[in-house]
Amino acid sequence: MSELPSHTLHICVTCRPKGASPDAVRDGRLLFEAVAALHAEWPARDQVALNGVECMSGCDRACTVALSGPGKPSYLFCDKAPTPETAAAALDLAAQYAASDTGVLMRGDRPGPFRSGILAKIPPAAL
Ligand code: FES
Repeated sequence: MSELPSHTLHICVTCRPKGASPDAVRDGRLLFEAVAALHAEWPARDQVALNGVECMSGCDRACTVALSGPGKPSYLFCDKAPTPETAAAALDLAAQYAASDTGVLMRGDRPGPFRSGILAKIPPAAL
């Protein structure tokens, strides 16, 4: 029996640019599906689960992507484009996060699309 992944990459599937029709396919859905396609064959998928969520309260800064893991700060990134580059970078970032003992993601070490646009860095739970 395999263990469940200890880390999670969250992607908001309901994000859309300001002014976009609510009936149009959401940019967040497009980004999630691009990441999901890569995640299905990703070597680190046993460490990082992919979680599509409806809203992470960053609606004015679509698309939003978040990371969480045990004993590590949680991050909420915003302003991400639903592109193949962002999708690949999200998994690179998640791999860095899972491999780090502290979970701290220094700007210069992060993949290009994630060097900016941090909306929140939340400390780990005090246990
Ligand atoms: S709709 Fe994506 S953060 Fe609210």
